[in-house]
This record gives sequence, C-alpha cells and structure tokens, in this order.
Amino acid sequence: MRERTADLLDWYDVHARVMPWRTSPADKRAGTRPDPYAVWLSEVMLQQTTVAAVTDYFTRFTARWPTVTDLAAAEDGDVMAEWAGLGYYARARNLLKCARAVVADHGGSFPADHAALLALPGIGPYTAAAISSIAFDLPHAVLDGNVERVMARIYDEHTPLPAAKPILMTHTAALTPSERPGDYAQAVMDLGATICTPKSPACGICPWRDPCLARQRGTAPELPRKTPK
Ligand code: ADE
Repeated sequence: MRERTADLLDWYDVHARVMPWRTSPADKRAGTRPDPYAVWLSEVMLQQTTVAAVTDYFTRFTARWPTVTDLAAAEDGDVMAEWAGLGYYARARNLLKCARAVVADHGGSFPADHAALLALPGIGPYTAAAISSIAFDLPHAVLDGNVERVMARIYDEHTPLPAAKPILMTHTAALTPSERPGDYAQAVMDLGATICTPKSPACGICPWRDPCLARQRGTAPELPRKTPK
C-alpha cells in the first residue's frame, strides 16, 4: 500500500499540473504551505466547473480580494458580478457567507480542523476533506469523479455508482498517506484527468499500470459502472 502511494507521489512530483492555487515545486522545497483561502476558493469554483474555466476567475478574485477578510468585506453585488459566467450562483452566495463566518467565528483564518470546516456555510464533506488535506496536511480522503474512476479501475470494482461510492472512498482512504495527504489527493485527481481518462486511458504511461486490476483484466474502459438514470 505504502509503495503504491509512493509510486503515485513520485509521478506527481514530475507531472503535477500547474494551477495558480497550487504551491510550485520550488516553494514546496522551501517549505511553503498552500494558502487555505486559495485552496478553499479554488475548490468551491471547481465544483461543476473545469480547471481551464476556473483559472481566470480564480486569478481575478484573488487579485481583487487577496485574503478571506477582504472577500468578507466585499459588496455582495461585486462578488456576484465577478462570479458571472461560472454558474451555480448559490455557490457565490455561500462563498460570501463562508468568508464572513471565517472572519466572525475564526478571526479571519480557516480552522485547521475537519469538523470546524464542515460546520462552515457551503462547505460539504468533499470541500472539508480537500481543505483539510491540501491546506493543512490532515489525512482526510477526497472523492470526486476522477478519484472514483481511478479507484474503480485499480480495484476492478464493478458495483455501479452511486452505490460504489463508499467502497471507492474506503479504497482511497486506505491509500491516503499520513504525510502529503493533499498531494496524494491531487495526484489521483491529476491521474484521472490526464491518464486514467474516461475514454482510451493511457495505461502504458500510468504509474499504477502494474497493480491496476482493470488493466490486467481489460475492463478499464467500462469502469466505473453507473446505475442507469
Ligand atoms: N479538481 C478539484 N480540485 C482539484 C485539485 N486540487 N487539483 C486537481 N483537480 C481538482
């Protein structure tokens, strides 16, 4: 298990996608931690929106409101106007509510605690786990669509989604290391986005090609299964 996780982290050290909210390799070597505000903002924006679409919005938001305290003090209309085009406007309203709660209840710093994060407006289990692991190095497992696909394939799990979710969560939790849990989570997401893609996965260059059960059995393209709507 530990070896499998290490193989993925080695791959991530070389192939991590560059995103404006991520810490650069040089910053990482210098020990710089990701800014929890940047992690939170990016994760909220990335719900139902692609990395490519989010990048410019993220850059504009953080230029205009560099800290959660700045965002909390913004006019609602200004935030809604900057959000225009990202869709799902309830996210923008919750964004402001959450920023104001971080200032009112936590002195303007995101709490380094999964339960306290979960209690904030607009932060559900996915976002709480993402902030805990990426920003605070707490070993919480993150399950999104990319992680579901990768886990279904390496364990050749044929239970259809959504029933498979708890099973896939157990798999990725077991692989989550106590050191670098956030890098592990983002590495699985990047693997799913760039190699373990829904159609024609690039198994030949996958760091998990040897242990992957779906690759061994030729079932990767049909996984994950989904319960018909
Ligand atoms: N999708 C959502 N959050 C992400 C992250 N931190 N890295 C890559 N893809 C993501």
